[in-house]
Amino acid sequence: MMRFTDKACLVTGAAAGIGRASAMRLAQEGAAVIAADINEAGAQETAAAIRALGGHCEALRFDAMDEESCRALVVEAVSRLGKLDVLCNVAGACRADHFLELRLADWDRMFRINVGSVMVLCQAAIPHLKATRGNIVTISSASAIAGAAYWSAYGASKAAVASLMRALAVEFSSDGVRANAICPGGVNTGLATTYAIPAGIDPALVQRLYPLSDAAEPEEIAAAVAYIASPEARYVTGVSFGIDGGQLL
Ligand SMILES: NC(=O)c1ccc[n+]([C@@H]2O[C@H](COP(=O)([O-])OP(=O)(O)OC[C@H]3O[C@@H](n4cnc5c(N)ncnc54)[C@H](O)[C@@H]3O)[C@@H](O)[C@H]2O)c1
Repeated sequence: MMRFTDKACLVTGAAAGIGRASAMRLAQEGAAVIAADINEAGAQETAAAIRALGGHCEALRFDAMDEESCRALVVEAVSRLGKLDVLCNVAGACRADHFLELRLADWDRMFRINVGSVMVLCQAAIPHLKATRGNIVTISSASAIAGAAYWSAYGASKAAVASLMRALAVEFSSDGVRANAICPGGVNTGLATTYAIPAGIDPALVQRLYPLSDAAEPEEIAAAVAYIASPEARYVTGVSFGIDGGQLL
């Protein structure tokens, strides 16, 4: 399948995991890709891997916590690619807390990276997406829908970003711009190693959210990113698309 020939895609969080797999999938299907991440070396590795396969990819560093960095990323991506057809918001972070110990500053940090950055990137990208009748794909989480004990800040931030996609889907529908969220369950990436599980959690409250089978591979999420971003999904907008191995059944 070559659904992205002549398409220009910006993928955040592309140094690793779901972002890297999405950048690679879009490039394999013909897209020119900007792989953006705070981990510049990782983004460069992604770009090199894509170029080694004959694809087009350039790496850019940005910090999702920094508004100006998010806006500058979109400007630079459009300058390099000449246009923008797809914005993939994958960069994100997770934390777990006993709710009674959760500090407002940590709640704010979760919202800044998982929602605030997406808001700013969408704001900067939408004028360009209007010009191409392009679309936005944002990685939310099954924890946006489930009652995820200890992941209160993360789950709330991921619910907010899915809600943001619905709002944009309606607000820009007459411009032909689609906006969707993907809600993965457990995915085999480094994310789980980047935050601490607090002592004294009740495992039963966490186990009730286990998927029916094993975790997904990032490539399985990337396949959904590519479908939803492609013209095949012309009629798909405002959805929160679950890929969770039956976690929420
Ligand atoms: N792995 C899972 O089980 C799972 C499940 C549901 C949703 N998600 C979501 O998927 C997305 C991708 O995560 P992943 O699982 O591929 O993990 P990952 O850790 O492999 O990827 C996250 C990427 O985001 C980047 N990043 C972190 N902070 C950043 C910042 N301030 N600025 C720019 N980039 C930054 C990291 O460098 C990393 O490359 C995240 O939004 C995550 O919340 C993951």
